[in-house]
Amino acid sequence: MTKAEIGLIGLGVMGSGLALNIAEKGYPVAVYNRTSTRTGEFFENAGDLRGNIVPCASLKELVAEIRPPRPILMMVQAGKAVDEQIQALREHLSEGDIVIDGGNANFRDTIRRFDDLEGSGITFIGMGVSGGAFGARHGPSIMVGGDHAAYARVEPVLTAIAARYKGEPCSAWLGEGGAGHFVKTIHNGIEYADMQMIAEIYGILRDGFAMPAAAIGDVFARWNHGRLDSYLVEITAEVLATADPATGRPLVDMILDRAGQKGTGRWAAIEAQMMGVPATVIEVAVAARSLSAEKAMRVAAASAYGGRAAPAGREPDAAFIDDLELALFAGKVIAYAQGFTVMGEASCEFRWNLPMATIARIWRAGCIIRSQFLDRLADACDAEPDAAHLLLTRDFAAMLGETHASLRRVVAHAALAGLPVPALSAALGYFDAFRQSRGTANLIQGQRDYFGAHGFERTDAEGLHHGPWDTSG
Ligand code: 6PG
Repeated sequence: MTKAEIGLIGLGVMGSGLALNIAEKGYPVAVYNRTSTRTGEFFENAGDLRGNIVPCASLKELVAEIRPPRPILMMVQAGKAVDEQIQALREHLSEGDIVIDGGNANFRDTIRRFDDLEGSGITFIGMGVSGGAFGARHGPSIMVGGDHAAYARVEPVLTAIAARYKGEPCSAWLGEGGAGHFVKTIHNGIEYADMQMIAEIYGILRDGFAMPAAAIGDVFARWNHGRLDSYLVEITAEVLATADPATGRPLVDMILDRAGQKGTGRWAAIEAQMMGVPATVIEVAVAARSLSAEKAMRVAAASAYGGRAAPAGREPDAAFIDDLELALFAGKVIAYAQGFTVMGEASCEFRWNLPMATIARIWRAGCIIRSQFLDRLADACDAEPDAAHLLLTRDFAAMLGETHASLRRVVAHAALAGLPVPALSAALGYFDAFRQSRGTANLIQGQRDYFGAHGFERTDAEGLHHGPWDTSG
């Protein structure tokens, strides 16, 4: 067999899916896993694709099997394992070789690794991969950051294995250094926001109307044919429709209401805060997961404060269901606008020149947040590339114009019924603050000056001023 086009380290769920995907697209791939039994097992199960797979027992062998300059894709656990893997690889690599981290790395680690390898002749690529196990195997969305010349070496493989949206590959080089992993982090922050808002709508129907899971699933299934058409809404419908094989009850009713998180959503919120860009829907979605984890405390609080109002003794009417759909859409519009604003700020701060429309386009298929809406978002970026904020573009204004009243009605309904909708409320609160030409920070400035002599600007004069406060007492 000719030399492998690429090497891959780490045959876990994502790594093995990507390796098979690469082999299937006709590119020979050399694979290595720390536990060699896993490599053998993977190769045995690769069926017809074995002809394009070279199982390797050592890093030395792996490197020797790849056509130079050698791209080596690491699919190992984010964090320390990546540093250890790079360290172990280094002695086997030569000038021009390319180490690619395809895990969910913190982009600040990616920048550090990029800098560490600077001058060594070895280049580094930080690559966000979205789409879970199925995506890895059959077409993920791929967000590449790092050296552009190195990217050119792997571009054909990445383009071949990526998901396609109407024929267009969902893979792109987005900028230097940590650009790819940063964009993946924001993708995950938005993923958290989408999931939380969907869960809030589910909660309104489950707890506000005692609707059975399957009936709620039908509502989401219907919405998936309209403006909410997206992978997350589609799988929500399927999760809600699934029965528990053990009890016959809806499976979702048997799942503990405690959500995990690996950290990427949190990083999105942290980075937004560090840059001073409000991403309140993402922040609240992360916080909601943390609160979900405090099951015992919530149970205690439910007994301390009593439950909420009993569910309405009727089905929600069609107008309310329509409101829920539009409210969810409005929340989505606001959450994405926030996420893209965070990316815009990071793009300036890290000088990445992130291509916003391209990011939206490579998210249209393959990734977890894929949806029709992203096509519209991409068009809005193209139509008004200089807009200071997506909510100021004509298309977003039109989308919110049609839906924000529904968001308000739904949040008001939930508030009065005692149903938690933190992410939808955050979206509404942000929207109302965003469109307020005269805000209330004048009072904050007065307070700051009162207790700290921080000074304030006046509406009728230049410069910094102080109030005539009597601070003696
Ligand atoms: C994806 C997913 C994937 C994974 C994350 C989020 O884009 O394919 O985002 O990366 O699901 O690890 O997981 P948590 O919910 O555990 O943070």
